[in-house]
Amino acid sequence: MRAQIVSAVLLTLRCRSASGARSLRLAATVLMLSASAAAQDNLANPHEGNPGAISAGRALFETRCAECHGADAKGISGPDLTVIFAAGRSDGRVFQTVRAGIPGSIMPSSTAPDDELWAIVSYLKSLGTVSLVEYATGNADQGRDVYLANCARCHRVGSDGGRLGPDLSRVTRSRSRAGMTSAIRDPSAAMGVGYRTVALVTADGERIRGLKKAEDAFSIQIVDTSERLQGYLKTGLRQVQDQAESLMPPFGPDVLSEAELDDLLRFLTSVHEESDGP
Ligand code: HEC
Ligand code: HEC
Repeated sequence: MRAQIVSAVLLTLRCRSASGARSLRLAATVLMLSASAAAQDNLANPHEGNPGAISAGRALFETRCAECHGADAKGISGPDLTVIFAAGRSDGRVFQTVRAGIPGSIMPSSTAPDDELWAIVSYLKSLGTVSLVEYATGNADQGRDVYLANCARCHRVGSDGGRLGPDLSRVTRSRSRAGMTSAIRDPSAAMGVGYRTVALVTADGERIRGLKKAEDAFSIQIVDTSERLQGYLKTGLRQVQDQAESLMPPFGPDVLSEAELDDLLRFLTSVHEESDGP
């Protein structure tokens, strides 16, 4: 997968010479790639929510994954896996990651049967689920207005909204109220894997901030704040700087009162409550 991304980057690089004269893009390749990635993401888990699969998955996880991801899946040398669904990963995507591993990292691939991998996915998904009682207060209608005014340009809820940040349609299903509050009030405290901020300075001095999607020795691919996927040759850049601040601005109590936050969380919960049940 990473090899595919890199070759796509090489094909879609905007070849920015120092004069900035040449610009070359093969958008079709990107479309093809994102179509095949979408097909994988849509793979359905045949054992979703099945208690037998969840407990089998727990046992498999403890023997094969816990040494790096921790017995509680909150991460040791590997990342915290209790937040990946809230960060927008689909079941299919997690399945594919566990199947293929992550080349260039210590995350191994697996040749285990599909059923075993789906059981592990079911287990990981069960970890993220929290009780909706935490989100019982607040006014959903007012919360929708708060969302539209502050969050919709970067986050989807249902089919509407921006795509720079993770999908929030089910986020309160898998994140505690404390976790949500911290993600909104202080986004830089913990950023989702796959949402690393990078700042670039081009040869002509233009500054661009975005999320780093792929990088190798020669090139870097980012999604900029207008949600455009852009590839750059490093020789055409003056600076590439990894940043510890989230692209999401902090929403302190001066911007979002406690009551507004309460309404917002109630709205986000109401979105999935009807289909999932309490
Ligand atoms: C030897 C250590 C190691 C083992 C064993 C391991 N992982 Fe990982 N895993 C990692 C590391 C490190 C990463 C992050 C790699 C990166 O992003 O560069 C990772 C990433 C992941 C991700 C991607 C997280 C995301 O944000 O999407 C998933 C899912 C995952 N591992 C699941 C598993 C499962 C399930 C198992 C057991 C079958 C497992 N891992 C075994 C080290 C490990
Ligand atoms: C300028 C774009 C932008 C705006 C505006 C924005 N966000 Fe974000 N948000 C992001 C990005 C990018 C991330 C991923 C990086 C991170 O985790 O900080 C993120 C992450 C999050 C997460 C963490 C998801 C997870 O589980 O990892 C939550 C929750 C969230 N945003 C909620 C909100 C809410 C609620 C609002 C409105 C009050 C909002 N955001 C406004 C861009 C934005």
